Amino acid sequence: MAANNDRVRIFDTTLRDGEQSPGATMTSDEKLEVARMLARLGVDIIEAGFPIASPDDFQAVRRIADEVGAANGSHPPPMICGLARANDKDIDAAWEAVRTAARPRIHTFLATSEIHMKHKLRMDPEEVVDRVAAMVSYARALCDDVEFSPEDAGRSDPQFLYLVLGEAIKAGATTLNIPDTVGYTTPEEYGALIAGIIEHTPGIENVIVSVHCHDDLGMATANTLAGLRAGARQAEVTVNGIGERAGNTSLEEVVMTLHTRRPLFGLTTGIDTTQITRASRMVSSYTGIPVQPNKAIVGANAFAHEAGIHQDGMLKNHMTYEIMRPETVGAGQTELVLGKHSGRHALRARLSELGYTLSDEDIVRLFDRFKELADRKKVITNADLEALMADELTHVPEVFSLDGLQVACGTMGMPTASVRLAGPDGTIQMHAAIGPGPVDACYTAINYLIGVPVKLVEFAVNAVTEGTDALGEVSVRIEYEGEEPVLNPHSEVAMKRTFGGHAADTDIIVASARAYLAALNKLLVAYDLSQPVLETVPATVGS
Ligand code: KIV
Ligand code: ZN
Repeated sequence: MAANNDRVRIFDTTLRDGEQSPGATMTSDEKLEVARMLARLGVDIIEAGFPIASPDDFQAVRRIADEVGAANGSHPPPMICGLARANDKDIDAAWEAVRTAARPRIHTFLATSEIHMKHKLRMDPEEVVDRVAAMVSYARALCDDVEFSPEDAGRSDPQFLYLVLGEAIKAGATTLNIPDTVGYTTPEEYGALIAGIIEHTPGIENVIVSVHCHDDLGMATANTLAGLRAGARQAEVTVNGIGERAGNTSLEEVVMTLHTRRPLFGLTTGIDTTQITRASRMVSSYTGIPVQPNKAIVGANAFAHEAGIHQDGMLKNHMTYEIMRPETVGAGQTELVLGKHSGRHALRARLSELGYTLSDEDIVRLFDRFKELADRKKVITNADLEALMADELTHVPEVFSLDGLQVACGTMGMPTASVRLAGPDGTIQMHAAIGPGPVDACYTAINYLIGVPVKLVEFAVNAVTEGTDALGEVSVRIEYEGEEPVLNPHSEVAMKRTFGGHAADTDIIVASARAYLAALNKLLVAYDLSQPVLETVPATVGS
């Protein structure tokens, strides 16, 4: 089965490896929305999370299995996968979380490189082989579809890999995934590793070989493609390439390379490429991780032509400077003429064309914001709507919300922000602060009111559309300043957890305040700090 067809399975791990990016923590509602988007995109397998990591992770995977992985008539739903270390507790949790899906998968892993076996696992190679055989067989007794990954395969001895993988196959693994966990290999090396595995592992013809690359040296996509050329038929990817450290292989780059260079690779995927831009925006909004403007396929400049010579060429024939059309990836569609005279039906119809299924309650809430925006902005474009949607449906637990904000700034005095926050049980608190700029003043006032020590680690502003009336999108990341109250359940070593927030508004100071509060609310809930904080919030006005 290793190289017997041309169809590459797309295994999306945005909700698992991607969510391990610093600050990318999503709420369970946001994960469900992303899973729905991935299903529309046509991914074959959704790795929905790491169920043993926390009760929240477990519940999120379970909801996705129930709601996105359910059989829905003629179209087979995506397979729903849960990650598990190679021990029975992790495997039981993964199985409990995914078992209600029509097509469940358990993905279990154990490291095989010398450095990981010796220093992290403190296990002999023989013990590793035995544990893999026992745990794959344990998982297989529960679930018909089992994936095994030898973690840090990129730095493992190939002979040892052939042995471990052969045992995993005997124990019932149906997919063997080969991770370059630390993004160390080059395309030649990684392609040769996959070719060697296909040539030397006993029983490999009965399983799917999968590739999983990290981008520490910027070669994740090239390595993934080299692995596919060598015979792998599953690619593990994330939307926008988010993931641990420098990230994972990006879905859009692999899919569009196979699509654009079809004669070279001779491989296909089941992805509806026109959904790519939407998926990218949704993931960026929910995780608070902005997409760099020059990012391949989904960056704001990916289809922009600035140089006069290029523009001249494009006007004569777009193929002079364009190797794919923007509409193929769902970017740059005809502008939508929605404005202040448009009604709720027009809004719902357009949003459903954009792929959003909304409850009546969501539409009512969104329509009010849409009207507010239409009063300030003549034409509301698809991009405005997508930003509003992401902002409105970002289900951040609301401990504090912005009840009022006024700033004074300019060349004549000190930038000052007066902030009014509504807390739980309707408490209202106000504070005014000065700062070197209006955003800083506003954050100082919010910090004073909330009273929890936090550090701003990232702040980014993007204009969603053109013009002075554009919607501004703000993404922030914060972390607890000082010793963390609770350790990150995802991590094996103590490390800082960061929280992302995102908001859009025509007023970027308002967007900045709301993005900051979204991140703060996540932090307060994660560390269970909302109650003590409330008791100490002062109701003073000062600076
Ligand atoms: O990078 C890695 O090794 C992983 C495994 C859990 C597959 O993400
Ligand atoms: Zn990984």
